[in-house]
Amino acid sequence: MDAFGLDVGGSGIKGAPVDLETGELTAERVRIKTPRPATPEAIVDTAVEVVSRSGWEGPVGCGFPAVIKNGVAQTAANIEQEAIGFDFQRHLEKGLGEPVRMINDADAAGLAEMRWGAGREVGGVVLMLTLGTGIGTALFVGGKLVPNTELGHIELHGGDAELYAADAARKREDLSWNEYAGRLDEYLRAVEDLLWPDLIVVGGGISKKSEKFIPSLTARTKVVPAEMLNEAGIAGAALAGTDEAAGYLPSPPR
Ligand code: BGC
Repeated sequence: MDAFGLDVGGSGIKGAPVDLETGELTAERVRIKTPRPATPEAIVDTAVEVVSRSGWEGPVGCGFPAVIKNGVAQTAANIEQEAIGFDFQRHLEKGLGEPVRMINDADAAGLAEMRWGAGREVGGVVLMLTLGTGIGTALFVGGKLVPNTELGHIELHGGDAELYAADAARKREDLSWNEYAGRLDEYLRAVEDLLWPDLIVVGGGISKKSEKFIPSLTARTKVVPAEMLNEAGIAGAALAGTDEAAGYLPSPPR
């Protein structure tokens, strides 16, 4: 069975149908540049356009780079502040005429890794990181997601950790791989002091070059690269939009 995943990012809004058995995209993904200014309404219109260009009809799951509670964005670290309080789920449902499930983008990538990638059949405490513009985190305990962990924003050297250790910091400051690995290492040590995970999965575009930094990490926890690479966000969002996600999600609060 196919499901449809959308991944809203700072530079592009991407979507594709996904085979729920394998996690693979079953058609070429459609990508449209994130509108400028990225008002919530413009994001919704563009996301609707991605789905219609894909010719998809049916439920949709959508990953978004913010804390999401009941379809509503609660934070805006790397996106327009107007997103805060905006009910993306309701607006997308209206625009598409289909049921939509919104989820944090790193949580979506984490779901994909747990189901099809590096976290497959791994129990215990698994932490997935997405290193990109920011640092996204997805925490799984016994295979179940603890939604909306925002461990990219812990304090490191008196500032926001993601400004220090995200892949964007490496590019902005033109760091060597060695320098960057040192920063990531400091970040991982700070996180593992708080959580003591059993496995850390490193994702985001940078995971394609994991051999350049993973071997020099000194963190206690086993660190492995994500296996789904760039498509994790879309695949996990697609899963989130289906009933099959229930096995990975906590029961809703009463
Ligand atoms: C946001 C997270 C998001 C991450 C990756 C962070 O700045 O606070 O919600 O998951 O970036 O996009």
